Amino acid sequence: MERTLVLLKPDSVSKKHIGDIIKIYEENDCTVAAMKLMKMDERLASIHYQEHIGRPYYEELVSFMTSGPIVALVLEGDDVIRRVRALNGKTNPAEADEGTIRRLYAESKSINAVHASDSPESAEREVHIFFNETEILD
Ligand code: CDP
Ligand code: MG
Repeated sequence: MERTLVLLKPDSVSKKHIGDIIKIYEENDCTVAAMKLMKMDERLASIHYQEHIGRPYYEELVSFMTSGPIVALVLEGDDVIRRVRALNGKTNPAEADEGTIRRLYAESKSINAVHASDSPESAEREVHIFFNETEILD
């Protein structure tokens, strides 16, 4: 059994897509193991997006991610890291497959509805940025 960190970004929360998006994960054999509504601050954003510091889009990314509430989730399931990335679709919704979360709900390459960990190493790191082990239920 694998775990991954998912963020429903501020655009998903403000447009009331929380339920729609979680429904897609649940219908696809992902189990919610932890969940919180919260607001990111610049420090948390810089830890979570550490590998993007210095990129041309970084300032805009932090400003977007701190602009309103997000939902942080730990999803559990077999092969869940790869499967959730596939359900989310490509970063740019214009290139994302039909039926993917980003194709359905994202506005643009930066305002793109969801985040999900991209490897076992990033999942382990990212899950523990947002949750203590005691907050993750099986
Ligand atoms: O989120 P994902 O792993 O698909 O993409 P990423 O390349 O790891 O980039 C992280 C986030 O930075 C994206 O989801 C976008 O919100 C933002 N980004 C952007 O605004 N412009 C880019 N050219 C690349 C990424
Ligand atoms: Mg990424």
